[in-house]
Amino acid sequence: MVTYISRGSGCYGVISIMNYKGGVGKTTLSANVAAEMAYRGLEVLLIDLDPQANLTLSFVSIDDWKALDRQERTIKHWYDQYLDYNHDISLKELIITPTRLNEKLAQSRSSGRLDLICSHLELVEVDMELSSKLGGHTDRAIRNNYVNVLSRLRFKLEEIKEDYDMIIVDCPPNFNLITQNAIVSSDYYLVPARTDYLSTLGINTLLKHVDTLKKKYNQHLHETNHRHMPPISPQMLGIVFTMVSYHKGVPISAQREYIAQVKRSRLPFFNSYLRENKSLFASAPETGIPVILHQGNIQQKKIKWEIRALVDEVLHTMKAKVRS
Ligand SMILES: Nc1ncnc2c1ncn2[C@@H]1O[C@H](COP(=O)(O)OP(=O)(O)OP(=O)(O)O)[C@@H](O)[C@H]1O
Ligand SMILES: [Mg+2]
Repeated sequence: MVTYISRGSGCYGVISIMNYKGGVGKTTLSANVAAEMAYRGLEVLLIDLDPQANLTLSFVSIDDWKALDRQERTIKHWYDQYLDYNHDISLKELIITPTRLNEKLAQSRSSGRLDLICSHLELVEVDMELSSKLGGHTDRAIRNNYVNVLSRLRFKLEEIKEDYDMIIVDCPPNFNLITQNAIVSSDYYLVPARTDYLSTLGINTLLKHVDTLKKKYNQHLHETNHRHMPPISPQMLGIVFTMVSYHKGVPISAQREYIAQVKRSRLPFFNSYLRENKSLFASAPETGIPVILHQGNIQQKKIKWEIRALVDEVLHTMKAKVRS
């Protein structure tokens, strides 16, 4: 059964999709989950915080992206305004509505919409410049600078949150200040992982780092003039196993072992996995439309069912967390 959530009662939440590990499917998952939510009628905002800009280029052509660069409408330019001039520009200035995807939604008679804030290759330099804003000569200056830098995205997202049902942030494969901005802004986070030794190894560390960040940020927030802002509490929704290979209807034994290992560790995980299909996932970004909204053969349909089931689980878990 497909889980629907009704529109019009404000934002259900900001979800960051993250994992230190590179190439585990963060961007693919962000694009497909967001597209499926929009297909179900939600107004979704996607934010690309990775300088690789793979999410941006999954929706926007290179020419359109270059035009946005000239117009200074990427997340890198937004951070530049703060770093160079201390300007507090609204995120609204950056938002675009990717044409190909939204036309596809309209053709499918969906009432949803998917908007995007694009990334930029030079976002990597912004991170270094943000670090130079930390520190200070007194304890008070250090606390204030810490909260100011970490809260950049959070404070400005607050202004546009009500315009969306869901906000999904695709993080880079690290724990730098940009990723920390995402965590501080998030109500929830979701961790895609490949079912191999190295991909599952760092998940516990990631969770510990999120917890340490939460405690440090809340403590500092309480001691600054931003103490009227509520403390943050990003909640782990679960691990999504990606690129799973099947044999006779079940994941191959090597992968089953890693899945079992994660389950034993009592980390939250989703029962819906994303199967491996190199050709479908590799070719989708060029079309500007994620795999979930493509028509196709039985392999395509299987992927669709999996992503739909996963989105059901995500929405269900979010609802359960709100109730608890
Ligand atoms: N289920 C899948 N089956 C096959 N290939 C996949 C699948 N999911 C993603 N891929 C491919 O794996 C590569 C990495 O995926 P993706 O870019 O989503 O990972 P990522 O975690 O965002 O990477 P990075 O850490 O570099 O940002 C891409 O080429 C993508 O097309
Ligand atoms: Mg990525």
